[in-house]
Amino acid sequence: MADYIIKGGKKLEGEIVIDSAKNAILPILAGSILCKGVVKIKRCPKYTDVVKMCDILKFLGSKITHKSSTLVVDNSNLSFKFLPNALTKDIRASIFTLGPLLTRFKKAKLSYPGGCSIGVRGVSTHLTNLEKLGVRFIERHGYIYGEYEKSITQKIYLDIPSVGATENIMMFMASNKGRYEIHNPAKEPEIVDLANFLNKMGAKITGAGEDVIYIDGVESFSPVTYTPIPDRIEAGTMLIAGVITKGDITLKNVESSHIASLIDILTQSGADITVNAKDRKLTLKSGGELSAFGKIETLPYPFFPTDLQSPMGTLASVTKGVTIIKENIFECRFRYVPELIKMGAKIKVNNNVAVFQGQSKLYGAEVYATDLRGGVALVLAGLTAEGYTTLHDVEHIERGYYKLERLLARLGADIKRVK
Ligand code: EPU
Repeated sequence: MADYIIKGGKKLEGEIVIDSAKNAILPILAGSILCKGVVKIKRCPKYTDVVKMCDILKFLGSKITHKSSTLVVDNSNLSFKFLPNALTKDIRASIFTLGPLLTRFKKAKLSYPGGCSIGVRGVSTHLTNLEKLGVRFIERHGYIYGEYEKSITQKIYLDIPSVGATENIMMFMASNKGRYEIHNPAKEPEIVDLANFLNKMGAKITGAGEDVIYIDGVESFSPVTYTPIPDRIEAGTMLIAGVITKGDITLKNVESSHIASLIDILTQSGADITVNAKDRKLTLKSGGELSAFGKIETLPYPFFPTDLQSPMGTLASVTKGVTIIKENIFECRFRYVPELIKMGAKIKVNNNVAVFQGQSKLYGAEVYATDLRGGVALVLAGLTAEGYTTLHDVEHIERGYYKLERLLARLGADIKRVK
């Protein structure tokens, strides 16, 4: 496993370009299964989750190359295969292949998905709704086997607005004849992006990002070249990195409206942020002390995202006053807290609520990344802490941030990756 060695106390300054969104690329890769041709994904970084998703596609027969940040996926010759645990255990997004595989082969067999250990992360919303659409599932010995005969219903009401389930069901409906509706869908920007990608391939989807998604299923898809949306979580993380180091930074390739909830909270607490929506730029100017954030709760889009909860927790740890954070999406997203406490943070956690008593300083220490976003929260802590921080197991972070150490170093951070 690799470590980051971070010397804290450097003010971040300069300009960086935000990458395409991991959580947009992953469902797009699953959606590429629907196309019996070549799909090109531009500005696609080699996040390790993306590499693992490509391994799944290659196992099914995809020919994949990655040249100057364009991922070229040729799915002309895929065959039905059982996706074993070795391929699915590390990424949640492996379940996104279910809908597309059920369309392409009328059957699918895969081991349960893994991913960051941040909660139970069940798949019942995926399965029960695909069942309503005519898929029969058998769940045995750690795998899911499904067969599709024909649609039973065409209107789906999701019990929870699950991002992955909305994506899976949307891909399934888009590629099977019929007029479909998804009620109570997730509205995250990645859902809209997936709909845009599928539409560019020939799908007929309207209403993504709204209360009801309408889909007219089609039976074939054309090759396409697509650029996914910028990563709103990377943008938010870098913005918080700027704030925590009292930096002066500009982020390019940012869709500011996607992180409006974060920008609002930071601005209300005194951060000096200028949005240039037309040029997809966002600038942070160093200013005075921020005031504590009051109460923040994570909720589905457009509210505060769970994926920025831990970076925000680090910022709350060094912001004078009391901040209360309530995590409503995942049960185990405070696993970074004990590590942050080792660095001098004063935090009390009770179930899904954490109370942060802001300190004037954190102190470098030896700490462990337990998951992707919890890990990056500790990087932010290291950037502001007095002295050196050794952060172990940074592979968790590399699932969704590409060469983060280079990005931060470009802004003047003192951070090294060592094996
Ligand atoms: N849930 C169920 N049953 C289901 C589906 C979801 O109980 O069938 C629960 C989950 O356990 C969770 C909640 O519903 O408590 C929300 O889960 P959702 O399905 O919306 O999340 P996801 O599709 O598994 C995606 C992102 C996550 C992000 C969430 C919420 C990808 C690959 N992952 O996960 O990203 O936190 O939506 O926005 O798109 C990350 O990038 O660090 C990450 C975890």
